[in-house]
Amino acid sequence: MAIAKLAGGRQFQVEGNTSLLDAATSSGLRLPYSCRTGRCSTCKAKVLNGSTLPLFDETGLTSEERNEGWILTCARSAESDVELDIEDLGNIPIPAPKTLPCRISLLERLATDVIKVVLRLPPTAKFEFIPGQYVDVIGPGGIRRSYSLANSSFAEKTLELHIREVDGGAMSQYWFKQAKIDDLLRLNGPLGTFWLRDTTNIDIFFLATGTGIAPVKSMLEFIAHLPTEKKPSSVTVLWGGRKPDDFYLDVSRIAGGHNYIPVQSRAHEGLAGKQGYVQHVMLDLVSDWKNVAVYACGSDAMIHSAKKTLTEAGLPARQFYSDAFVCSARN
Ligand SMILES: Cc1cc2nc3c(=O)[nH]c(=O)nc-3n(C[C@H](O)[C@H](O)[C@H](O)COP(=O)(O)OP(=O)(O)OC[C@H]3O[C@@H](n4cnc5c(N)ncnc54)[C@H](O)[C@@H]3O)c2cc1C
Ligand code: FES
Repeated sequence: MAIAKLAGGRQFQVEGNTSLLDAATSSGLRLPYSCRTGRCSTCKAKVLNGSTLPLFDETGLTSEERNEGWILTCARSAESDVELDIEDLGNIPIPAPKTLPCRISLLERLATDVIKVVLRLPPTAKFEFIPGQYVDVIGPGGIRRSYSLANSSFAEKTLELHIREVDGGAMSQYWFKQAKIDDLLRLNGPLGTFWLRDTTNIDIFFLATGTGIAPVKSMLEFIAHLPTEKKPSSVTVLWGGRKPDDFYLDVSRIAGGHNYIPVQSRAHEGLAGKQGYVQHVMLDLVSDWKNVAVYACGSDAMIHSAKKTLTEAGLPARQFYSDAFVCSARN
């Protein structure tokens, strides 16, 4: 058994082939994570001392980062006592994930390649989540895939998902060709640490591509109910897409009085907004980065480019939060 120590002083035990992330969670610590498959790099940590053991491929790291001593806590265990430089999320109460049965109560085509799915949980089910989190849906044959929650409250005992069709995808095949109202599935969640941090007097920027707007919708609904003293100074939503029907949601309605800018990567007649990429449009909107927080969700390519572009322009890296919709299939 090894001891892992965080830069802030907190420590936890790591046994056998348990990942550092799972060992920390079992000890009641909260470390940032999203995909848990070594692809998104949300759980990136620098090893300050000691040695770690790879459990599976760390595709979310560049070779430069590996050489500099970065690891992914979801994909590594401890070989000796280790000291890690990573943000501990503190004592924020995070609902524990659980596995529950659910039935499909709505299937609605939002765009040629996007479907809205509403899952109904049993009337007695107790389920809590923080807006921005995701669930794993376990479908036919045990296929398990991750989807962000698009609603912000569980008052109706339902969960809303926005699902994009991936060519040849196993679960896409189910959602787009076989799924029927009342189908019985299971879900595991809530999962992930993509939620709003401090909001008071912050200029919040949401960057989304495609169905990455789902958790943004959830967080916008949450912001609408914040007490006055916790309200952000400003909220701007930049939603990127390639074709007109990628903008499948009336975000201006959800965003209330906030600033909403659709951003098209290709020119199309008759659509309002800007042309280009969300991260570049954002650069033109900010001159002082001190009170800015960025929440980016959607394609891995957008998130990598946004983090690089914005931190190079002056955004402190710790003010950039993301959830990359990487492939969630387990190898
Ligand atoms: C934390 C998290 C949250 C997510 N939330 C959502 C969400 O709210 N809505 C949503 O539509 N999707 C979301 N995803 C992606 C989703 O979980 C699936 O990975 C995706 O829908 C593909 O599943 P599939 O079974 O159809 O394809 P698979 O059978 O898993 O894959 C088929 C092929 O497509 C490739 N592929 C798989 N996923 C992607 C991808 N995302 N981009 C590019 N290529 C891919 C695979 O490498 C494979 O070659 C999320 C992923 C993560 C990690
Ligand atoms: S790479 Fe570890 S959580 Fe995504």
